[in-house]
Amino acid sequence: MGNTIIEASKIVKYFHDPVKVQVLKEVTFAVNKGEFVSVIGKSGCGKSTLLYILSTMDTDYEGDLVFDGELMRSKTHNQLAQVRNEKIGFVFQFHYLLPEFTVLKNVMLPGLKLAKLGPKEVEQNAMEKLQMLGIEDQAKKQANQLSGGQKQRVAIARALINNPLIIMGDEPTGNLDSKNGRLVFDIFKDLAAQGQSLLIVTHDQDFAEKTDRIIEMDDGRIIRM
Ligand SMILES: Nc1ncnc2c1ncn2[C@@H]1O[C@H](COP(=O)(O)OP(=O)(O)O)[C@@H](O)[C@H]1O
Ligand SMILES: [Mg+2]
Repeated sequence: MGNTIIEASKIVKYFHDPVKVQVLKEVTFAVNKGEFVSVIGKSGCGKSTLLYILSTMDTDYEGDLVFDGELMRSKTHNQLAQVRNEKIGFVFQFHYLLPEFTVLKNVMLPGLKLAKLGPKEVEQNAMEKLQMLGIEDQAKKQANQLSGGQKQRVAIARALINNPLIIMGDEPTGNLDSKNGRLVFDIFKDLAAQGQSLLIVTHDQDFAEKTDRIIEMDDGRIIRM
């Protein structure tokens, strides 16, 4: 526990279809509380595969993942779902908002699912997150009425709703124009300044260079960190 959020030790991953391929080769690293870390590397080097394992969604790997002081291998699927919902906020390349739901409802959903707070408090927190991201005026709109940049900000608000230990992103600016990409980066930077830990996969070198630490991967290995 203490200061380390993620401890990955010798993570090995194979895919078996169509042939057996080793995609991760003894990946070992840690992320400490308050760090803003980026992961870079060529397309196909294993970044998304690694993030999928670190986020506890993929359990088919060798090696150990300790998240917030707990060994993930010993957990059931339900326990892992609980860890994710409570402690990890996700931002993907595509926003995965529910298009027919309001912006506010989309942000509230992980909070309602966690059910640590009642709906009124979850709603209040959701409005605060939207305010923080400068889109509180969009709260009552349906998600599909927003622009791409606005949708991604809603996705960030949703990722923050349960006050996660860490935000994980897989190419969160990959589908945005450069202006909105910068905006999302600035939001992450602000969050980091407030003590939020972030682990963000990106192919944007400029983005990566402005983070606290770059982890560079090549062919399933970390080659720089
Ligand atoms: N479900 C899968 N089955 C088989 N191979 C996969 C699967 N997912 C990814 N791969 C392969 O694993 C490698 C790493 O992929 P990925 O982690 O998506 O790379 P990155 O995110 O760095 O672009 C690639 O060669 C990719 O083709
Ligand atoms: Mg990827």
